[in-house]
Amino acid sequence: MAKDKLSFDEHDERVNPRPETTDFDTIVESALSRRGFLGGVMSFGLGSFLIGSSALTRPALATEDRFGFSAIPTSTEDTIVLPEGFEWRPFLQWGQPLWSDVPEFDHATRGTAASQARAMGDNNDGMAVFTKGDRHVIVVNNEYTNTNLIWGNAEGTPANDDDIEKGMVAHGVTVSEIALVDGVWATVKDSELNRRVTPKTEMDLTGPAAGSDFVKTAADPTGTKTLGTWNNCGNGETPWGTYLTCEENFNGYFSAADEAHEVSAELKRYGVSAKDWGYGWAKIDERFDVSKHPNEPNRAGYIVEIDPFDPTATPKKRTALGRFKHENAEVVVAANGKVVVYMGDDERGEFLYRFVSEGTYSATGNNADLLDKGTLYVAKFTDDGKGEWLALTPETTGMSEVEIAVHTRQAGSKVGATTMDRPEWVAAHPTRPEVYVALTNNKNRGKKPNAGGDETPVGGPNPREGNNYGQIARWWPAGGDHTAQGFTWDLYALAGNPTVHSDAYAGSANINAGNMFNSPDGMMFDETGLLWIQTDGNYSNDKDFAGQGNNQMLAGDTVTGEIRRFLVGPKECEITGMCWSPDRRTMFVGIQHPGEEGGSSFPGGTGTVPRSGIYAITRKDGGLIG
Ligand code: FEO
Ligand code: CA
Ligand code: CA
Ligand code: CA
Repeated sequence: MAKDKLSFDEHDERVNPRPETTDFDTIVESALSRRGFLGGVMSFGLGSFLIGSSALTRPALATEDRFGFSAIPTSTEDTIVLPEGFEWRPFLQWGQPLWSDVPEFDHATRGTAASQARAMGDNNDGMAVFTKGDRHVIVVNNEYTNTNLIWGNAEGTPANDDDIEKGMVAHGVTVSEIALVDGVWATVKDSELNRRVTPKTEMDLTGPAAGSDFVKTAADPTGTKTLGTWNNCGNGETPWGTYLTCEENFNGYFSAADEAHEVSAELKRYGVSAKDWGYGWAKIDERFDVSKHPNEPNRAGYIVEIDPFDPTATPKKRTALGRFKHENAEVVVAANGKVVVYMGDDERGEFLYRFVSEGTYSATGNNADLLDKGTLYVAKFTDDGKGEWLALTPETTGMSEVEIAVHTRQAGSKVGATTMDRPEWVAAHPTRPEVYVALTNNKNRGKKPNAGGDETPVGGPNPREGNNYGQIARWWPAGGDHTAQGFTWDLYALAGNPTVHSDAYAGSANINAGNMFNSPDGMMFDETGLLWIQTDGNYSNDKDFAGQGNNQMLAGDTVTGEIRRFLVGPKECEITGMCWSPDRRTMFVGIQHPGEEGGSSFPGGTGTVPRSGIYAITRKDGGLIG
């Protein structure tokens, strides 16, 4: 969410203002490094920019047209637009019952707490399909709710406690069996595999923070059992068949009855304050009152592992993966068998992380607790196209293992990690040791430090001051080894608007009037090695964003650099979350918060409530897609 109303970040910032800028010397230094850095991009184009230290490590691939579709123009229509030869249909929408004893979505009331708890949650984000034998499930995150939409008034005010609880249980994760019915993938109502995971579902805390004083509360004096997950953004999948859901803006749900209550400095770094973002959960559940239960926020901000085929399994919060505003979790198995998880912390000036497991993955062994022990690292980039992973250990940070797991941002600051332009999804190439991160935008770049006071100088993979367009950076682990300390990096794309700007804000050479976009966010490779890019940006179609239309989805050839627009979403939505059916003939794409400002009735049309949902995209000829 960006645009005119307050985004999560903007809200966070008003509630919790950052220290003001910075001295003159820093600004001058930053400007110089920006000119030096971007000179190469702008005068020689992306092609020559790519020929850096990393070119030698990148195997050549054929460069024939691999897209399988023709690029489409931008759109401001209130619908999904696709290339010729493709079609879409609603697949699983907010409020759609998972069981037949639940009423269909009611456009007048938008349901009750009871109906919502047994229906698809709201504002779906990351998702994945899992197969076991001949059964398949789709697992999807439900990140948050738009209070104006779920409560049906422009002010976003709950009428009663049931409204607040309806909002609460619209968060979490939805699991539904899916099956091919007459050649079309469909959800299976009443399947014993269907499940809702909500902020009320019991979970185990595991890893270094479990049982520590930081996570003990009145309700859980052992610090090992916690209730629920919320603000579930991107996702990940493990090679042992589990789903990872990533807790992002967990802070916005805590408040204090006394609005003058001051939270600790540790909580401030995460944006927790006496004011929530309008959800009102403390009114119905005291654990969200941070003045009474100051350790409760230490029990959120993690990655949660879920067994998609056992609705009775207790989800596990894996604290070894660190506590921050987790975007997604890109899992790769390194050549030495270690499990490596790449993770972004989506806040202005926060960091990019890597977890390396202590144990090794075994295709036939027990991998159940591999994510409980290992080492966290943060990325440090330098302007010469090189970088390294800095280990977060008691030796490097002066913090205990428990503190590193709970106050991960502070640990990253201690070792001098590179402050990034809001790391969103990380995507690893399916066959090459090559990893991409979407840096969505950062209006504070070069202007304001992060919440921990770390400077945000212009340079490295964050080369533009007041960056309102975003970029995609990528790196190659040294020796092709995902556990190596060093890497080389470059920029795959600098988003921009070449019809408005002729400087660095025009974007890199692979951005043109026909494919331009802003704020890359969701990102994933398909099996053929095409990089799919989803946007969560400014959809005003005006000024800096003129000609960019609604949010969209594009595909990138990572060898030639070419980027083509594949899909444009309805009004006021973002596109986020994607996965494929087991036969790869359907692509599932998430449409989140259409009509967040009241300007859409997608997909039902006039008089209906706009609904987030998963939309199924197929080729009209039934061919493979991705
Ligand atoms: Fe939920 Fe950073 O996006
Ligand atoms: Ca979102
Ligand atoms: Ca996102
Ligand atoms: Ca975003």
